[in-house]
Amino acid sequence: MKQVAVLISGRGSNLQSLIDAAGDSYRIILVVSNVEGAGGLDKARAAGIATTVIPHAGKTREAFDGEMDARLRAAGAELVVLAGFMRILSDVFVRGWEGKLINIHPSLLPAYKGTKVHERVIEAREALSGASVHFVVPELDAGPVIAQAKVPVHPSDTPQTLADRVLAVEHKLYPEERKLLASDKVNLENGLAVFR
Ligand code: GRF
Repeated sequence: MKQVAVLISGRGSNLQSLIDAAGDSYRIILVVSNVEGAGGLDKARAAGIATTVIPHAGKTREAFDGEMDARLRAAGAELVVLAGFMRILSDVFVRGWEGKLINIHPSLLPAYKGTKVHERVIEAREALSGASVHFVVPELDAGPVIAQAKVPVHPSDTPQTLADRVLAVEHKLYPEERKLLASDKVNLENGLAVFR
C-alpha cells in the first residue's frame, strides 16, 4: 500500500475525493498546506489524517520547498499529489520527486496551461474542455499526461458553470489515477508516461 501525501492550498474537494477512494491501494498519511485556513485541512482532520501548515511568507521558493521536502520524507511519503496547490515548485523539489509527483489541471493539456483556464476556454468558444492528470516536471503544467476526462462546453456557460462541470469529472478521474500509480502500472520514463 503506497503512502501518499497531498499538497493543498484551498477548499480541498479533490482531497476529499482522494480520501473517499483510499483503500487497499493507497493511504493518505499527510496533508500539507501553505495556507493556514485552507478548508481542505478540516477535511483531512475530519478523516483523521495528519496535517501540517508551512507558511510561505518571507521564504525563498527553495527554502519553502526544502522545508516541505523534509516533512514529506520524515512522514515516509512515497507519492506526492498536488490537489489545488497554488505554488510553483522549484526545479530541485520537482527533480527530487521525479515520477512520484502528480497534479490535476482543469483543462485538456497541453491546451490551456496556467491560470484562468475556464475564462480562456469560453473566450475561445471551445466545444470541449476537461481535466488532465499529469506527472509534474519543472515547466508549469507541461509534464506527461497520464489520463484525461472530457466535458462539453455549452454556449451559455460561465467560468463558474464550466468549472463545476470540470470539477465533477476531476473527482472521478483523480482517485482512479492514484490507484494506477499506487499499483506501479504507470511510470515516468525518459519524459514519457509509460503504462504496463
Ligand atoms: C481544481 O480545479 C484543480 O484542477 C486545480 O485546482 C482546483 C482545486 O480544487 N488544480 P479543490 O481545492 O480540490 O476543490
